[in-house]
Amino acid sequence: MPESVCHRCGKSHGEEAECPTYKINNSDEFLKSEVRRVTEERKTNGMLGLVGDLQAIIINTEEDRLFPAVQEFLDYTGFRISDAFEDENFKTVVLSQPVSASILIRSRKTGSNPFKRFNLNPKSSELPNTRLETFVFLTTDIDKYRKIQQMRDTQFMSNSITEMDNYKFIQTTPSELTGISVGVIEWTGEVKSFRTNNAVSIRCDLIKPERSYLEDIGFLDHTASRVKAVDRDAAIIEFMELTNYKFEFAIHVKSFNSITSVTRLSDGGFAMVFTSGIEPFKNLEESGPTEKFIYNYGTRTHHLAFITENIEETYRKLHEDGMEYLVELVGAPEQGLKQTFTVASPNTFLVNEYIHRYGNFKGFFTRENVTVLTAATDIQ
Ligand SMILES: [Fe+2]
Repeated sequence: MPESVCHRCGKSHGEEAECPTYKINNSDEFLKSEVRRVTEERKTNGMLGLVGDLQAIIINTEEDRLFPAVQEFLDYTGFRISDAFEDENFKTVVLSQPVSASILIRSRKTGSNPFKRFNLNPKSSELPNTRLETFVFLTTDIDKYRKIQQMRDTQFMSNSITEMDNYKFIQTTPSELTGISVGVIEWTGEVKSFRTNNAVSIRCDLIKPERSYLEDIGFLDHTASRVKAVDRDAAIIEFMELTNYKFEFAIHVKSFNSITSVTRLSDGGFAMVFTSGIEPFKNLEESGPTEKFIYNYGTRTHHLAFITENIEETYRKLHEDGMEYLVELVGAPEQGLKQTFTVASPNTFLVNEYIHRYGNFKGFFTRENVTVLTAATDIQ
């Protein structure tokens, strides 16, 4: 994108320091009014009902970290390998869990990496190709999706829709606001079969440990991606315009200069959470955990949250089998949930969250715990 074009509104507004469309106010009222505007826009442009729930996330690793990253998911989640293949561009391992979006872990074989420039921060540049790059959502009509988004000047990675034996797929170029791409997939054959045409199987001798408690770690409930304070509103609106998600609510924690904003489909399913600072980054001494994380690692997804049964026992057994945590298990049944964060993976930079909700609680944290959870990520 040329420098004269604002990365938030996509328009050129001269030398003005502040974008006239997205003022840095982090106002939930503004976002709620944008939900109404985007909902009306979806009705008129045809997006309404066109994009559904998450089908997969795509995590790219360095080539020598691909199998170690897969082994971590085998060791510390309920996911199992359902396919492993390579084509001319990628080696890919597909991890599946019966009721979850899939996790595709891959490494590039050739060509330039369009995400690389988002990865070159002080603590992330040592793994310059490592990132959760793409969230892939279901669509019922990919041709219609592409036409509508092209009318909106959305940029895609490819000029045409990729057609495979089992699906059609297209993805946006990485967002300037998040460094993340949104993909959409229309299944035309076997659902959740991500193999590309002309791919060949790769040998993948990794073993799923026979630990019964891993069955208690279930589906991918939500992810939290970190965006700059100045980009929070624009990033959420951009995501709403590319999908059928809507901003639901946010929790502001002033003491840690942090806002956690939740977007969801109206009928539930996977939740896309955005975490941002309240005030922009100042320096490493004064800024809160979120802005410091972005300084060190770039805007990126911070954690993957897995629904977990028997969470006390699972938490303890994971630790006995080598998992380290950023924070102990926090929460209580009367608060609606229990949850914890692991240390970040050395192969993906991603933290795992294990979360158990009680009763009808639908939240992602409690007001009692959000402070301690946010503080825990400060040591990254
Ligand atoms: Fe979370």
